[in-house]
Amino acid sequence: MRGITSTMRPAPRRRLRSILRATATTPEDERDIPGINSLTTSGAAPSVGADWSMVAWESARKVVDELYPPQAYGERRIAARDAALDHALSSGTEPPGGVPLAGDGLVYGEFDATFFARLLAAAQPRQGDIFVDVGSGVGRLILTAALLWPSAWANCHGIELLPELHGAAIDARVRFDALPSPLSTLPIAPVEYSAIDVYSASGGATLREADVVFVYAVTWARDAQGRLTELSHALARSGIKQDARIITVGVTLLPEASGVRFERVRSLQGDNEETGPDSLGHIFRVVRDT
Ligand SMILES: C[S@@+](CC[C@H](N)C(=O)[O-])C[C@H]1O[C@@H](n2cnc3c(N)ncnc32)[C@H](O)[C@@H]1O
Repeated sequence: MRGITSTMRPAPRRRLRSILRATATTPEDERDIPGINSLTTSGAAPSVGADWSMVAWESARKVVDELYPPQAYGERRIAARDAALDHALSSGTEPPGGVPLAGDGLVYGEFDATFFARLLAAAQPRQGDIFVDVGSGVGRLILTAALLWPSAWANCHGIELLPELHGAAIDARVRFDALPSPLSTLPIAPVEYSAIDVYSASGGATLREADVVFVYAVTWARDAQGRLTELSHALARSGIKQDARIITVGVTLLPEASGVRFERVRSLQGDNEETGPDSLGHIFRVVRDT
């Protein structure tokens, strides 16, 4: 099997069925809110973001719709909730108020694929970059990224805490190879799935390798200004690369954490079912002052 790595055996298949919600918008529909800084850095490899094409987009959409049928979204959210509940019960982390269903870091949701593609292009992938989806769920965005820039990424790596979702991500990638031609013959970047906690040592090691990071984590630990506190420090402490780009949605990063600056370079407004039509995606650049 080409280009799949898993750092854990897939969990037994449960009721998870992968889906991708179809979206009615095209990438041009989202509004760009220019940031104050530029992503361009001297000496950096040229961005391949300009190669992003509607042809690649339409093909990626077809594949992902096939592997992640839109009509199964509700079913998968229920399965993800069950997995979160199992995790809370087995790890003894059930919060005092009850099960982790709302306002908890394990709340499951799938980010809009069209808006994702636009944000990723704005982060300007470069040849040989490594993409990491932090909290990758069933791997839908990993496959989307791998299909959109098949020859640019050295690796697309999804890290997911819940083994059931991790297993479903591997399952979807395996099913890609079994799709009818020409879908299964579309070029795709190498993918990797790890069932790990982003706050663990292995999570840190993964962040350290990343060039572009995506985080859809609106319910994760954040301060009153909606800034991801724990994650900002975890990113900084991981030793994340100078110039790595980090994409957040709805929430932001701290401007500075553990000696690393996160400079907001651009924000885009777009539609995402769970966070609304005026959702904001932000692109940050890692700056290490030496
Ligand atoms: C809102 S979902 C996003 C799924 C996917 N990235 C997408 O946008 O379609 C967030 C995911 O993060 C996972 N997660 C929560 N805490 C985590 C942690 N500490 N380490 C790794 N994954 C985590 C959850 O289990 C969930 O699958």
